[in-house]
Amino acid sequence: MKVQGTSGSLLKGNIDPALVPKKTLYTGAQIPAIGLGTFGSDHVTAGEVAAAVEGAAEVGYRHFDCASVYGNEHQIGYGLERVLRQHLRRHEIWITSKLWNDKHGENDVIASCRKSLADLRLSYLDLYLVHWPFPNFHPPGCDVTSRSPDAKPYIHAEFMKTWRKMEELVDLGLVRHIGTSNMTVPKLKLLLRDARIKPAVNEMELHPHFQQPELFDFVRSNGMVPVGYCPVGSPGRPERDRTAEDTAPTQDPVIVKIANRRGVHPAVICIKWAVQRGQVPIPFSTNRGHYFSNLEAVVSEPLTADEMREISTIDRNCRLIKGQVFLWKDGQSWEDLWDLNGEITPP
Ligand SMILES: NC(=O)c1ccc[n+]([C@@H]2O[C@H](COP(=O)([O-])OP(=O)(O)OC[C@H]3O[C@@H](n4cnc5c(N)ncnc54)[C@H](OP(=O)(O)O)[C@@H]3O)[C@@H](O)[C@H]2O)c1
Repeated sequence: MKVQGTSGSLLKGNIDPALVPKKTLYTGAQIPAIGLGTFGSDHVTAGEVAAAVEGAAEVGYRHFDCASVYGNEHQIGYGLERVLRQHLRRHEIWITSKLWNDKHGENDVIASCRKSLADLRLSYLDLYLVHWPFPNFHPPGCDVTSRSPDAKPYIHAEFMKTWRKMEELVDLGLVRHIGTSNMTVPKLKLLLRDARIKPAVNEMELHPHFQQPELFDFVRSNGMVPVGYCPVGSPGRPERDRTAEDTAPTQDPVIVKIANRRGVHPAVICIKWAVQRGQVPIPFSTNRGHYFSNLEAVVSEPLTADEMREISTIDRNCRLIKGQVFLWKDGQSWEDLWDLNGEITPP
């Protein structure tokens, strides 16, 4: 595949990070337009993910999407430390982490961020997200039918208490940006109204079979950057996150046709589409060939306008990460988490 750039961009099998596009946040900071996901989906060990982070930094990744709940920040921290000691400076990499759902309490937010910083062996994060807008604990790896007796709906006044602590993290210099994940338009409207420090990004599920046009446009038109998770349709996701209705963007005939024409894996087409559309994909992989080709996807020949148009027509509104464990009362369905009629689902 042809790689754009004039100065030997394919250095010893690596991609020159200077060629990787960036998105400018409202602060003026620049986030690399692709990051490496680090959720091992319950079957990839922390050590394997940490090795992938080091390997990805070697091939040219400069953006890593972490979270305390992935249970591997400690191991990733050792990898980052080596990377920073050997060949990179802190300001050359972008590190995101996330506040887990059982740490929304006013006394927990700062402590939780400090724990991620200690595990990742960093003095600041580039971005810290509230992972889900629901303050509900459920054990890692639990079944989708599992419900916490203490589960609560989204209550904006409560969320704002968490957000004030997120803002304090910026004041303290522990994080450079704060953001949200798994939000909806009505929840974001309230947050934008009340925030002193606006969210810089919203991390959300985005792939060719789940394009979320309304939320995507809302996020962008309000000065946030959409970060897209499950960008290749999360083929390795845990069994508990699968239903019979789910579809796979990498098996879509349009994606397969474009991939065959270009001689690449369908995942590569999903990544190209994501970056060209304007979201920041964070594909997970521990396979060097795969994470290399995902990075290469964003510096090589772009999709044509016709290809982009064709992919825009294959949206199936197929949400893969439904979030069932966050439901707070009997008789609900996962759609209640996503405010489908444009209003926050009442308690
Ligand atoms: N904010 C949230 O609530 C949230 C939710 C879910 C995920 N995330 C983040 O988003 C990241 C990505 O999501 P995800 O891991 O669920 O899904 P994904 O990135 O769509 O899919 C990852 C899977 O695709 C395979 N793959 C990746 N690139 C490939 C390529 N070029 N060719 C062939 N196979 C390829 C990987 O296998 P190999 O390892 O074999 O390459 C892995 O099994 C996560 O790791 C996490 O950081 C955030």
